[in-house]
Amino acid sequence: MLAPSYPITTPRLTLRAFTEDDLDDLYAFHSLPEVARYLYWEARTREETEAALEEKIGRAEIRSDGDALSVAVELRETGRVVGDLTLFWRSEENRQGEIGYVFNPACHGRGLATEAARELLRLGFDGLGVHRLYGRCDARNIPSYRLMERLGMRREAHLVENEFFEGEWSDELVYAMLAREWRAQA
Ligand SMILES: CC(C)(COP(=O)(O)OP(=O)(O)OC[C@H]1O[C@@H](n2cnc3c(N)ncnc32)[C@H](O)[C@@H]1OP(=O)(O)O)[C@@H](O)C(=O)NCCC(=O)NCCS
Repeated sequence: MLAPSYPITTPRLTLRAFTEDDLDDLYAFHSLPEVARYLYWEARTREETEAALEEKIGRAEIRSDGDALSVAVELRETGRVVGDLTLFWRSEENRQGEIGYVFNPACHGRGLATEAARELLRLGFDGLGVHRLYGRCDARNIPSYRLMERLGMRREAHLVENEFFEGEWSDELVYAMLAREWRAQA
């Protein structure tokens, strides 16, 4: 079970649940092909973004195995939502979770995604009580794996041509962190 106590504040960001008012901000980056390049969805139309937002609004808490939590990341200096985090509860029995993150390119390169994703790790380890959190990305998605390395996650696997993605074979990287590694970092 995880029902975050919002808002969660970091030096530059406010993390909170998504609301209907976030459509414009989410559309601003979910509509960009470069953002969706290595994701399992195509750049979204406004209607598709609206449907995605509805799903995120519904993912406000984790109650049972298989649930996911969506977290909106607001940049305090502008009050706009610039990022979108997801925590998946992959297995209750094995206490495993997975993280995901998507940010507006206008805000890349300032460490904002790292600042936000660290709070997602905190929610997973300290809130949900998982034993292991992992993240996966296309091996060509350098910003994504560099982010996981900044978070202190370990590269566990480099899967070779395990997916036929958008017309070509692609490699996948798996990064992970254990609860004791998280605590050792604190
Ligand atoms: C993955 C993604 C969130 C990473 O964004 P990012 O801007 O590289 O990550 P951060 O916000 O943590 O910024 C890190 C960069 O800012 C720099 N930086 C500046 N100030 C910093 C600070 N205070 N703290 C940390 N890094 C800082 C870092 O050096 C780094 O730059 P570098 O990669 O050139 O070395 C972004 O590329 C994205 O949204 N991609 C599209 C969606 C996607 O593919 N998601 C992952 C699916 S698996």
